[in-house]
Amino acid sequence: MFTSFFLKMLNREAALPKHKSERIIESLHIQEGYAIADIGAGGGYFTLKFAEKVGKTGKVYAVDTQPKYLDFIRREAECQGDDNIILVLATEDAVGLPESALDLIFARNMFHHLTEPGQYFHNLKRFLKPTGKVAIIDHKPKGGFSFVSLFRHHTPEEVILQEMENAGYYLVESFDFLSEQAFDIFAVKRFERAG
Ligand SMILES: C[S@@+](CC[C@H](N)C(=O)[O-])C[C@H]1O[C@@H](n2cnc3c(N)ncnc32)[C@H](O)[C@@H]1O
Repeated sequence: MFTSFFLKMLNREAALPKHKSERIIESLHIQEGYAIADIGAGGGYFTLKFAEKVGKTGKVYAVDTQPKYLDFIRREAECQGDDNIILVLATEDAVGLPESALDLIFARNMFHHLTEPGQYFHNLKRFLKPTGKVAIIDHKPKGGFSFVSLFRHHTPEEVILQEMENAGYYLVESFDFLSEQAFDIFAVKRFERAG
């Protein structure tokens, strides 16, 4: 009951005009047939949007550590009539996904949850196709009294860039249209793919 209330709130927050979800999705250049992992899917706001974009020939892996969140997404997917969403229960530092299968890994507002983000994203490389990308969005630190600052639900963008560099990625594109969050897209450094 509380979980459902919380996740509906999370989805309402993601849908706020200031968070520019449509512009985020446009920036990802998603094509029909894409395989996408939404890591830290929460209430599935983006999972459900991606499912519509990739169509019947695509797949969206909704990944989360909370079984109740995945149950919520399953129910929402049924309401929306999507049968291309695969629910993946992860542990804090490991996730099971098909090897070399993903066009996109998307992680919105979850990077700050990771204790070893560099190691985490290093481990995810094996799930990407050679052309695959990783999109990371996380809150920028800000002063004042807010949920984000009180619970430290943020990461300085330079930390994201450094961790991803260390994990074997290079920056493909960086967007500045989100006022409260950093939004960066990465690809795997070619010479490191075999490693
Ligand atoms: C703030 S919510 C963001 C939800 C969603 N991405 C959004 O933008 O609305 C963070 C989510 O990440 C999940 N999470 C935290 N650590 C995780 C991990 N190591 N692997 C997968 N999911 C994780 C949490 O359970 C939660 O659902």
